[in-house]
Amino acid sequence: MFRTNTCGELRLEDKGKKVTLAGWVQRVRNMGSTLNFIDLRDRYGITQISTGDTTVKDVLDTVQTLGREFVIQVEGEVAERESKNLKIPTGEIEIRAEKITILNNAATPPFTIEDQTDGGEDLRAKFRYLDLRRNPLKNAITLRHEMAIQTRKYLDSKGFLEIETPFLIKSTPEGARDFVVPSRMNPGEFYALPQSPQTFKQLLMVAGFDRYFQIVRCFRDEDLRADRQPEFTQIDCEMSFVEREDIFQMFEGLTKHLFKEVLGLEFAEQFPRISYEYAMEKYGSDKPDIRFEMLIQDVTQELKGNGFSVFDNASYIGAIVAKGCAGYSRKQLDELTAWVKRPQIGAQGLVYIKRDSEIKSSVDKFYSPEQLTSLCEKIGAGQGDLVLILCGEKKKTLGALGTLRLEMGSRLGLRDNSVYKPLWVCDFPLLEWDEETQRFYAMHHPFTSPKPEDLEKFYSDNPAELGQVKANAYDIVLNGNEIGGGSIRIHDRKVQERMFEILGFTHEQAEYRFGFLMNAFKYGAPPHGGIAFGFDRLCALFGGEETIRDFIAFPKNNMGRDVMADAPSRIDDAQMDELYIKSCPPAKQ
Ligand code: AMO
Repeated sequence: MFRTNTCGELRLEDKGKKVTLAGWVQRVRNMGSTLNFIDLRDRYGITQISTGDTTVKDVLDTVQTLGREFVIQVEGEVAERESKNLKIPTGEIEIRAEKITILNNAATPPFTIEDQTDGGEDLRAKFRYLDLRRNPLKNAITLRHEMAIQTRKYLDSKGFLEIETPFLIKSTPEGARDFVVPSRMNPGEFYALPQSPQTFKQLLMVAGFDRYFQIVRCFRDEDLRADRQPEFTQIDCEMSFVEREDIFQMFEGLTKHLFKEVLGLEFAEQFPRISYEYAMEKYGSDKPDIRFEMLIQDVTQELKGNGFSVFDNASYIGAIVAKGCAGYSRKQLDELTAWVKRPQIGAQGLVYIKRDSEIKSSVDKFYSPEQLTSLCEKIGAGQGDLVLILCGEKKKTLGALGTLRLEMGSRLGLRDNSVYKPLWVCDFPLLEWDEETQRFYAMHHPFTSPKPEDLEKFYSDNPAELGQVKANAYDIVLNGNEIGGGSIRIHDRKVQERMFEILGFTHEQAEYRFGFLMNAFKYGAPPHGGIAFGFDRLCALFGGEETIRDFIAFPKNNMGRDVMADAPSRIDDAQMDELYIKSCPPAKQ
């Protein structure tokens, strides 16, 4: 047998057993004369190997030649340690080495394989396979596996079928750019990689499969951020003969199942549900972090008309109350003001009211202490609290207040990553007007149905009315992150045609791009709806992080590059010719 045990499993009860272990050398400590300690590591843990006076010379010689990350096999006897390390599960025992076989040498790794490594991000990305040996990454990938298994268990128990859909498809717009693949056999024609299996899962409903899911890779050519990768994974689901409530029940159930099985957390209550409008008004975001209150309050009426021109000229004035922050110094407030003025947030300035033993504000000239006190009373700012106020165009100001709210929440320690607060955000607008292209875009995607009560407006020619149509769409949000989104779909060919018309497609264009789906709708499409969870995001949040990269074994960097294999890369001219692609000059290095 290559090994009898792993490096994570032997305990004091195993004392006296003859065992064989295999793994990587974490470190070797020579304590003088014949006494050596080797930390032997594998996926399961670390076990101490020791040598002493009774160790044979061969073994002692081999120990001298060991370097970090050598792969070795050790035979020996489990013994009780003299000085125990109760921080690790195997810390009460060691293996007295009787034979050591070097299975492979290792060059010195470019960074230390420790929880806190000395390697920078780029270096670790280049040697990803070494980085994956470290506990934080190993644990992240293990957690991802558990999440996938538990997802499958739950959905299988509810009668969902896991069905694969193709990767080489016709473009399905989800709002991002497609990655395209040239077709050698069809010169001048391209496949697109799926941004999601949206149309296919709907076709599976037409086919009668009723409950579908897939843990599936999706591809989007969009700007990358900490929570976005060009290829990422969804738990993609679709159900027939359902209403929104059925979807909520089923997938709230999945989320609760994952919390329970993976993190041991029970959620007895139903997840809160709020409208998109409420989320925007009160949190300045369609993915609110509800781990803390600090709601945005509209103070336009209270503050307008007192001669302070900045407020008087603003269409909206909003405030948040930072509890216990009245002690903020001039310097802290200046710094916060500079922070909200950064282009990413774009506020013109920041007005504050400190409610301490006396009331003080940056607009004392325009408002009496009584006016300010009465405002504080109205918005729940008590003794010791700080009111932060931004003003301007409503949508932009709400967004800025939302970002400021998150920042204050973080500063006040209200965003603990081990606290989980999921919720549903629903009733999104169906359409979004784009000034630049002067047309409507689907806020979710073009297959999302309008709410039945808004059908009349949906057929209106008036853009203002169209802009008011609500979608039967919902997002599931966790701690300020959108972890999933979905909708009840259009299953009526005429409604779908009207949707394409609103989106500015001619009949021919709609036919060219989506004819296959529209055709399917002729043959008995059931009412259906679904959702897709961002699996990488879900895993990251369950792991207490917001960056998804560590939860993907081989991620891309923020330029969309695989720095380990160095992709994308050039292909040779012959391959280009075969694909009818004109050669272009090499990219600047
Ligand atoms: P949507 O576009 O909202 O919906 O995507 C669903 C979820 O996928 C995650 N996500 C991403 N994760 C990592 N990197 C990315 N680039 C990325 N883009 C999206 C998010 C998001 O909530 N077909 C629809 C679903 C449906 O209607 O059923 C869809 O793809 O967590």
